[in-house]
Amino acid sequence: MQPSVSRPPLPVGASQHLTGSARFLRACLRQSVDRTPVWFLRQAGRYMPEYQAVRRHHSLLEICKTPALAADVTITAAEILDVDAAIIFADLLLPLEPMGLPFAFRAGEGPVVERPLRTAQHIAALDTTRTAELGYVAEAIRAVDAHFGEQKGLIGFCGAPFTLASYMIEGGGSRNYVATKRLMYTDPGAWTELMDKLVTVLAEFAQQQVQAGADVIQIFDSWAGALSVADYREYVLPATKRLVRQVQAAGVPVIYFGVDTATLLPSIRELGADVVGLDWRMPLDAGSRALGGACAIQGNLDPIALFAPLPVLRTRVEEVLRQSAALPGHIFNVGHGIVPETPVASVQQTVRWVRELSAAIHGERA
Ligand code: CP3
Repeated sequence: MQPSVSRPPLPVGASQHLTGSARFLRACLRQSVDRTPVWFLRQAGRYMPEYQAVRRHHSLLEICKTPALAADVTITAAEILDVDAAIIFADLLLPLEPMGLPFAFRAGEGPVVERPLRTAQHIAALDTTRTAELGYVAEAIRAVDAHFGEQKGLIGFCGAPFTLASYMIEGGGSRNYVATKRLMYTDPGAWTELMDKLVTVLAEFAQQQVQAGADVIQIFDSWAGALSVADYREYVLPATKRLVRQVQAAGVPVIYFGVDTATLLPSIRELGADVVGLDWRMPLDAGSRALGGACAIQGNLDPIALFAPLPVLRTRVEEVLRQSAALPGHIFNVGHGIVPETPVASVQQTVRWVRELSAAIHGERA
């Protein structure tokens, strides 16, 4: 049975002079807006000198686990970029720890899980009762919410079951997902148990974030594009759909994001997410058609276009806005995270262009 979805109250009245929070939420729900809301995947990160300054004194996990620091990094990035929404500074892998899989970030290597999951016994031993230990994320959300109020939308997030499982099983990033797919194919019972346990923990983690003030939850299924349509449907879609429904039942819209998902979009449509995030490989209008026009769309500037000379970057920004002009519900974003060395001034200029150009588009439509 599908849980009933209660929606957050939205400001009534004209769509003019919206707050950042209202603009972002209204676009998620495909309601009219004064201009296209904008934020960026990985908007706080190493490309930003202010983040580097904090990182000189604290590890990534220290920042995540110290609510005052996580809130400060979140707020600073959103203010410097003047975006419509802030994404809480945290990491996808944080839930691994209370499930019994400690990990570390090693310089140059990315995340490394101490004892990767390889057996059914190990999956059976995963703990789903310690999710309250992630309360530091909710605490950081409370601080950001107190700072911004209605001025900006506030995005909480979690990983999707497949993408998190891939880190747990591979022990880090992967190219071919051999261990993950081998487990999926050889022990479907253990795989299902792992998906179920992840849904339990991730739904509770997302609910904590909503209770603390997150307006929207983004579910990152970053590596779902590694799956065939048949495998996505058989091994991943059912659990992911349950997670989407459970987060919506907490009362907020859900953004589902994956990379290289063009062939999966008709299946992704079945998740029932309010918004689907697309990478830059596919024009937004084509992506929306593949989703049956059933949800709002987020994306999809190539993050590497932020390295282009400004006139070239501007044409790319215009192209994204042109492809989404006829779609109700578009949130401007990059198609995947901002990378280190990206010029901050180009990100700021992109925000100004989105504001100017999309105000004209929405003005024409009104
Ligand atoms: O503003 C923001 O978006 C920052 C919050 C954020 C971080 N990680 C902080 C972080 C978010 C949303 C994430 C999500 C995340 N974490 C994903 C999914 C996102 C995607 O791009 O699809 C994944 C796969 C992870 C796991 C992870 N964390 C990896 C693979 C790495 C190493 C990659 C690298 O670039 O070195 C991290 C490290 C990490 N998480 C950094 C940041 C800012 C790198 C910076 C640092 O070491 O301080």
